[in-house]
Amino acid sequence: MTSRRQFLIATGVGLAALGTGRLGTAQEPTAGSGTGLSLIDEVVPPGQQPATRPIVVSTWRHGQAANAAAWPILRAGGRALDAVETGVRVTEADPQVMSVGYGGLPDRDGHVTLDACIMDETGNAGAVAFLQDIKHPISVARAVMEKTPHVMLAGEGARQFAVAQGFPTTDLLTPAARRTWQDWRRTSHYKPWSPGSDPARHDTISQLALDAHGNLAGACTTSGLAFKMHGRVGDSPIIGAALFVDNEVGAACATGVGEEVIKTVGSFLIVELMRQGRSPADACREAVERIVHKNPHWRELQVGYLALDRGGNVGAFALRPEFQYAVTAGPETQLIDVAHRTG
Ligand code: GLY
Repeated sequence: MTSRRQFLIATGVGLAALGTGRLGTAQEPTAGSGTGLSLIDEVVPPGQQPATRPIVVSTWRHGQAANAAAWPILRAGGRALDAVETGVRVTEADPQVMSVGYGGLPDRDGHVTLDACIMDETGNAGAVAFLQDIKHPISVARAVMEKTPHVMLAGEGARQFAVAQGFPTTDLLTPAARRTWQDWRRTSHYKPWSPGSDPARHDTISQLALDAHGNLAGACTTSGLAFKMHGRVGDSPIIGAALFVDNEVGAACATGVGEEVIKTVGSFLIVELMRQGRSPADACREAVERIVHKNPHWRELQVGYLALDRGGNVGAFALRPEFQYAVTAGPETQLIDVAHRTG
Protein backbone atom coordinates (compact mmCIF):
# COMPACT_ATOMS: atom_id res chain seq x y z
CA MET A 1 0.00 0.00 0.00
CA THR A 2 1.28 3.43 -0.82
CA SER A 3 0.67 6.60 1.13
CA ARG A 4 0.32 10.11 -0.18
CA ARG A 5 2.20 12.68 1.80
CA GLN A 6 3.38 16.19 1.43
CA PHE A 7 7.03 17.05 1.76
CA LEU A 8 9.10 20.14 1.58
CA ILE A 9 11.35 20.84 -1.35
CA ALA A 10 14.11 23.28 -2.10
CA THR A 11 15.35 23.66 1.40
CA GLY A 12 17.74 22.13 3.85
CA VAL A 13 18.91 19.46 1.48
CA GLY A 14 22.11 18.31 3.12
CA LEU A 15 25.00 17.59 0.81
CA ALA A 16 26.94 15.69 3.43
CA ALA A 17 25.74 12.37 2.08
CA LEU A 18 27.52 12.85 -1.24
CA GLY A 19 29.89 10.00 -0.52
CA THR A 20 26.96 7.66 -0.40
CA GLY A 21 25.66 8.96 -3.70
CA ARG A 22 22.63 10.47 -2.06
CA LEU A 23 22.06 14.15 -1.53
CA GLY A 24 19.89 13.92 1.52
CA THR A 25 16.15 13.65 1.55
CA ALA A 26 13.33 16.08 1.45
CA GLN A 27 11.86 17.00 4.80
CA GLU A 28 8.40 16.95 6.24
CA PRO A 29 6.87 20.41 6.26
CA THR A 30 6.97 22.28 9.52
CA ALA A 31 4.67 25.00 10.74
CA GLY A 32 5.75 28.45 9.64
CA SER A 33 7.85 27.25 6.71
CA GLY A 34 9.53 30.25 5.09
CA THR A 35 8.85 31.82 1.74
CA GLY A 36 10.39 30.33 -1.38
CA LEU A 37 9.67 26.80 -0.23
CA SER A 38 7.33 24.52 -2.10
CA LEU A 39 5.07 21.78 -0.95
CA ILE A 40 4.78 18.82 -3.23
CA ASP A 41 2.34 15.94 -3.15
CA GLU A 42 3.88 12.64 -3.99
CA VAL A 43 2.93 9.01 -3.70
CA VAL A 44 5.73 7.44 -1.67
CA PRO A 45 5.83 3.63 -1.67
CA PRO A 46 6.47 2.11 1.77
CA GLY A 47 10.15 1.78 2.57
CA GLN A 48 11.19 4.39 0.03
CA GLN A 49 12.38 7.90 0.65
CA PRO A 50 10.99 10.79 -1.36
CA ALA A 51 13.30 12.03 -4.06
CA THR A 52 15.77 14.86 -3.55
CA ARG A 53 14.31 17.56 -5.72
CA PRO A 54 14.64 19.96 -7.19
CA ILE A 55 18.31 19.55 -7.94
CA VAL A 56 20.67 20.70 -10.67
CA VAL A 57 24.15 19.46 -11.54
CA SER A 58 26.68 20.77 -14.06
CA THR A 59 30.10 19.82 -15.30
CA TRP A 60 33.19 21.72 -14.21
CA ARG A 61 33.80 24.78 -12.07
CA HIS A 62 31.90 27.02 -14.49
CA GLY A 63 28.87 24.88 -13.69
CA GLN A 64 28.52 26.87 -10.47
CA ALA A 65 27.38 29.98 -12.35
CA ALA A 66 25.15 27.87 -14.60
CA ASN A 67 23.54 26.28 -11.53
CA ALA A 68 23.06 29.71 -9.96
CA ALA A 69 21.00 30.74 -13.00
CA ALA A 70 19.03 27.49 -13.15
CA TRP A 71 18.24 27.26 -9.45
CA PRO A 72 15.70 30.10 -9.09
CA ILE A 73 13.60 28.50 -11.83
CA LEU A 74 13.66 25.15 -10.06
CA ARG A 75 13.06 26.66 -6.61
CA ALA A 76 10.00 28.46 -7.96
CA GLY A 77 8.55 25.18 -9.23
CA GLY A 78 9.57 25.78 -12.84
CA ARG A 79 10.32 23.24 -15.52
CA ALA A 80 13.69 21.45 -15.64
CA LEU A 81 13.89 22.21 -19.36
CA ASP A 82 13.70 25.96 -18.72
CA ALA A 83 16.25 25.66 -15.95
CA VAL A 84 18.90 23.90 -18.02
CA GLU A 85 18.47 26.20 -21.01
CA THR A 86 18.78 29.25 -18.76
CA GLY A 87 21.70 27.72 -16.89
CA VAL A 88 23.97 26.91 -19.79
CA ARG A 89 23.21 30.21 -21.54
CA VAL A 90 25.29 31.83 -18.77
CA THR A 91 28.31 29.75 -19.79
CA GLU A 92 27.68 30.37 -23.49
CA ALA A 93 27.77 34.13 -22.91
CA ASP A 94 30.88 34.12 -20.68
CA PRO A 95 34.00 35.04 -22.69
CA GLN A 96 36.21 33.73 -19.88
CA VAL A 97 35.06 30.18 -20.62
CA MET A 98 37.12 29.37 -23.70
CA SER A 99 35.47 26.05 -24.45
CA VAL A 100 31.85 27.15 -24.80
CA GLY A 101 29.99 29.70 -26.92
CA TYR A 102 31.18 33.31 -27.10
CA GLY A 103 34.93 33.40 -26.46
CA GLY A 104 35.33 29.71 -27.30
CA LEU A 105 38.60 28.71 -28.97
CA PRO A 106 38.25 28.38 -32.74
CA ASP A 107 39.04 25.53 -35.11
CA ARG A 108 42.47 25.42 -36.71
CA ASP A 109 41.33 27.86 -39.42
CA GLY A 110 40.14 30.45 -36.87
CA HIS A 111 36.39 29.76 -37.04
CA VAL A 112 34.39 29.36 -33.82
CA THR A 113 31.95 26.52 -34.50
CA LEU A 114 29.45 25.43 -31.89
CA ASP A 115 27.63 22.19 -31.00
CA ALA A 116 24.72 21.84 -28.57
CA CYS A 117 21.79 19.65 -27.66
CA ILE A 118 18.86 19.65 -25.26
CA MET A 119 16.40 16.98 -24.13
CA ASP A 120 13.18 17.20 -22.16
CA GLU A 121 11.16 14.97 -19.87
CA THR A 122 9.10 13.52 -22.71
CA GLY A 123 12.14 12.25 -24.61
CA ASN A 124 11.95 15.08 -27.10
CA ALA A 125 15.29 16.40 -28.27
CA GLY A 126 16.88 19.13 -30.36
CA ALA A 127 20.43 19.79 -31.50
CA VAL A 128 22.65 21.99 -33.60
CA ALA A 129 26.06 21.11 -34.96
CA PHE A 130 28.81 23.16 -36.62
CA LEU A 131 26.83 26.34 -35.99
CA GLN A 132 28.61 29.67 -36.48
CA ASP A 133 27.91 33.27 -35.46
CA ILE A 134 25.14 32.54 -32.96
CA LYS A 135 25.85 33.17 -29.28
CA HIS A 136 23.28 30.79 -27.81
CA PRO A 137 23.28 27.47 -29.65
CA ILE A 138 21.36 25.84 -26.79
CA SER A 139 18.37 28.06 -27.52
CA VAL A 140 18.61 27.27 -31.22
CA ALA A 141 18.68 23.56 -30.28
CA ARG A 142 15.52 24.10 -28.25
CA ALA A 143 13.91 25.87 -31.20
CA VAL A 144 14.81 22.92 -33.45
CA MET A 145 13.12 20.64 -30.91
CA GLU A 146 9.99 22.74 -30.51
CA LYS A 147 9.51 24.37 -33.91
CA THR A 148 10.66 21.81 -36.47
CA PRO A 149 9.88 18.15 -37.16
CA HIS A 150 13.63 17.41 -36.88
CA VAL A 151 16.13 16.69 -34.12
CA MET A 152 19.30 18.22 -35.54
CA LEU A 153 20.26 21.03 -37.89
CA ALA A 154 23.88 21.57 -38.91
CA GLY A 155 26.14 24.19 -40.43
CA GLU A 156 24.75 26.88 -42.68
CA GLY A 157 21.25 25.40 -42.47
CA ALA A 158 21.31 25.70 -38.69
CA ARG A 159 22.58 29.27 -38.97
CA GLN A 160 19.84 30.21 -41.45
CA PHE A 161 17.22 28.66 -39.19
CA ALA A 162 18.57 30.61 -36.20
CA VAL A 163 18.50 33.88 -38.08
CA ALA A 164 14.96 33.18 -39.31
CA GLN A 165 13.97 32.58 -35.69
CA GLY A 166 15.31 36.00 -34.72
CA PHE A 167 18.62 35.04 -33.16
CA PRO A 168 21.14 37.86 -33.71
CA THR A 169 24.47 37.12 -35.40
CA THR A 170 27.63 37.84 -33.40
CA ASP A 171 31.35 37.54 -34.05
CA LEU A 172 32.18 34.85 -31.48
CA LEU A 173 35.98 35.09 -31.78
CA THR A 174 37.07 37.32 -28.91
CA PRO A 175 40.49 39.05 -28.94
CA ALA A 176 41.73 36.65 -26.23
CA ALA A 177 40.65 33.57 -28.21
CA ARG A 178 42.19 35.02 -31.38
CA ARG A 179 45.52 35.58 -29.58
CA THR A 180 45.51 32.01 -28.23
CA TRP A 181 44.81 30.67 -31.71
CA GLN A 182 47.56 32.81 -33.25
CA ASP A 183 50.03 31.57 -30.61
CA TRP A 184 49.01 28.01 -31.38
CA ARG A 185 49.52 28.56 -35.10
CA ARG A 186 53.11 29.73 -34.54
CA THR A 187 54.15 26.39 -33.08
CA SER A 188 51.64 23.86 -34.33
CA HIS A 189 52.69 23.76 -37.99
CA TYR A 190 48.96 23.39 -38.63
CA LYS A 191 49.07 19.79 -37.47
CA PRO A 192 45.65 18.33 -36.85
CA TRP A 193 44.81 18.29 -33.19
CA SER A 194 45.65 15.04 -31.47
CA PRO A 195 43.94 13.83 -28.31
CA GLY A 196 47.23 13.94 -26.38
CA SER A 197 47.85 17.63 -27.01
CA ASP A 198 45.89 19.05 -24.10
CA PRO A 199 43.07 17.03 -22.63
CA ALA A 200 42.30 19.79 -20.14
CA ARG A 201 40.89 21.95 -22.90
CA HIS A 202 37.65 20.05 -23.41
CA ASP A 203 35.57 21.45 -20.63
CA THR A 204 32.15 21.37 -22.23
CA ILE A 205 29.25 22.43 -20.01
CA SER A 206 26.60 19.79 -19.56
CA GLN A 207 23.78 20.35 -17.10
CA LEU A 208 21.08 18.03 -15.75
CA ALA A 209 18.08 19.05 -13.64
CA LEU A 210 15.27 17.33 -11.78
CA ASP A 211 12.42 19.71 -11.08
CA ALA A 212 9.93 19.83 -8.23
CA HIS A 213 7.41 17.89 -10.30
CA GLY A 214 9.81 14.99 -10.79
CA ASN A 215 10.69 15.83 -14.39
CA LEU A 216 14.20 15.65 -15.78
CA ALA A 217 15.93 17.61 -18.54
CA GLY A 218 19.45 18.13 -19.77
CA ALA A 219 21.51 20.48 -21.93
CA CYS A 220 25.00 20.37 -23.38
CA THR A 221 26.86 23.11 -25.27
CA THR A 222 30.44 23.61 -26.45
CA SER A 223 32.82 25.15 -28.95
CA GLY A 224 34.38 21.68 -29.13
CA LEU A 225 38.00 20.74 -29.20
CA ALA A 226 40.33 23.69 -29.57
CA PHE A 227 41.92 23.93 -33.02
CA LYS A 228 39.93 21.01 -34.38
CA MET A 229 39.70 20.38 -38.12
CA HIS A 230 37.19 22.67 -39.81
CA GLY A 231 33.89 20.81 -39.94
CA ARG A 232 34.63 18.53 -36.99
CA VAL A 233 31.59 17.78 -34.84
CA GLY A 234 32.01 16.25 -31.40
CA ASP A 235 29.71 14.43 -29.05
CA SER A 236 27.95 17.51 -27.70
CA PRO A 237 25.09 17.63 -30.24
CA ILE A 238 24.69 13.85 -30.36
CA ILE A 239 21.73 12.58 -28.36
CA GLY A 240 22.81 9.44 -26.53
CA ALA A 241 26.49 10.42 -26.61
CA ALA A 242 26.85 13.70 -24.70
CA LEU A 243 23.35 13.66 -23.26
CA PHE A 244 20.46 11.33 -22.62
CA VAL A 245 17.34 11.81 -20.54
CA ASP A 246 14.73 9.19 -19.71
CA ASN A 247 12.20 10.47 -17.23
CA GLU A 248 11.49 6.96 -15.96
CA VAL A 249 15.12 6.36 -15.02
CA GLY A 250 17.46 9.32 -15.00
CA ALA A 251 19.76 11.47 -17.09
CA ALA A 252 23.43 11.44 -17.98
CA CYS A 253 25.85 13.77 -19.70
CA ALA A 254 29.45 13.96 -20.77
CA THR A 255 32.44 16.22 -21.11
CA GLY A 256 35.80 15.49 -22.65
CA VAL A 257 37.09 14.08 -25.91
CA GLY A 258 33.92 13.67 -27.90
CA GLU A 259 35.16 11.00 -30.26
CA GLU A 260 35.46 8.55 -27.35
CA VAL A 261 32.01 9.45 -26.04
CA ILE A 262 30.41 8.99 -29.47
CA LYS A 263 32.06 5.62 -30.07
CA THR A 264 30.78 4.24 -26.77
CA VAL A 265 27.40 6.06 -26.79
CA GLY A 266 28.25 7.02 -23.24
CA SER A 267 25.20 8.85 -21.88
CA PHE A 268 22.70 6.37 -23.28
CA LEU A 269 24.78 3.56 -21.81
CA ILE A 270 24.74 5.19 -18.38
CA VAL A 271 20.97 5.65 -18.38
CA GLU A 272 20.45 2.05 -19.48
CA LEU A 273 22.78 0.83 -16.71
CA MET A 274 20.79 2.87 -14.18
CA ARG A 275 17.61 1.27 -15.57
CA GLN A 276 19.16 -2.08 -14.66
CA GLY A 277 19.67 -0.88 -11.10
CA ARG A 278 23.20 0.49 -11.15
CA SER A 279 23.84 3.64 -9.14
CA PRO A 280 24.68 6.85 -11.06
CA ALA A 281 28.33 6.66 -9.96
CA ASP A 282 28.67 2.99 -10.83
CA ALA A 283 27.04 3.51 -14.23
CA CYS A 284 29.45 6.39 -14.98
CA ARG A 285 32.39 4.20 -13.96
CA GLU A 286 31.25 1.43 -16.29
CA ALA A 287 30.97 3.90 -19.20
CA VAL A 288 34.55 5.05 -18.53
CA GLU A 289 35.69 1.41 -18.45
CA ARG A 290 34.23 0.89 -21.94
CA ILE A 291 36.62 3.57 -23.21
CA VAL A 292 39.56 2.04 -21.37
CA HIS A 293 38.70 -1.37 -22.81
CA LYS A 294 38.56 -0.10 -26.40
CA ASN A 295 41.33 2.50 -26.48
CA PRO A 296 44.92 1.65 -25.46
CA HIS A 297 45.69 5.41 -25.46
CA TRP A 298 43.10 6.17 -22.79
CA ARG A 299 45.71 7.70 -20.47
CA GLU A 300 46.12 10.56 -22.96
CA LEU A 301 42.41 11.39 -22.92
CA GLN A 302 39.95 13.01 -20.60
CA VAL A 303 36.29 12.04 -20.49
CA GLY A 304 34.03 12.79 -17.54
CA TYR A 305 30.51 11.51 -17.02
CA LEU A 306 27.85 12.91 -14.70
CA ALA A 307 24.50 11.27 -13.95
CA LEU A 308 21.36 12.10 -12.01
CA ASP A 309 18.64 9.55 -11.37
CA ARG A 310 14.96 10.27 -10.93
CA GLY A 311 15.39 10.00 -7.16
CA GLY A 312 17.83 12.90 -7.17
CA ASN A 313 20.90 10.72 -6.62
CA VAL A 314 24.04 12.03 -8.30
CA GLY A 315 27.17 10.23 -9.44
CA ALA A 316 30.17 10.88 -11.66
CA PHE A 317 33.38 9.28 -12.84
CA ALA A 318 36.26 10.37 -15.09
CA LEU A 319 39.17 8.93 -17.00
CA ARG A 320 41.65 11.41 -15.53
CA PRO A 321 41.98 13.61 -12.46
CA GLU A 322 40.68 17.16 -12.21
CA PHE A 323 37.12 16.64 -13.39
CA GLN A 324 34.68 18.42 -11.08
CA TYR A 325 30.95 19.00 -11.04
CA ALA A 326 28.74 21.58 -9.36
CA VAL A 327 25.62 20.48 -7.48
CA THR A 328 22.82 22.66 -6.18
CA ALA A 329 19.93 21.25 -4.15
CA GLY A 330 19.33 24.18 -1.84
CA PRO A 331 20.72 27.61 -1.12
CA GLU A 332 24.32 26.45 -1.49
CA THR A 333 26.25 25.04 -4.42
CA GLN A 334 29.03 22.54 -3.89
CA LEU A 335 31.90 21.78 -6.23
CA ILE A 336 32.74 18.09 -6.11
CA ASP A 337 36.05 16.46 -7.10
CA VAL A 338 35.27 13.39 -9.16
CA ALA A 339 36.92 9.99 -8.75
CA HIS A 340 38.93 8.85 -11.75
CA ARG A 341 40.48 5.79 -13.36
CA THR A 342 43.77 4.65 -11.95
CA GLY A 343 46.26 2.11 -13.27
N1 GLY B 1 33.01 17.14 -25.67
C1 GLY B 1 33.25 18.20 -26.54
C2 GLY B 1 33.82 17.82 -27.81
O1 GLY B 1 34.48 16.81 -27.94
O2 GLY B 1 33.63 18.56 -28.75
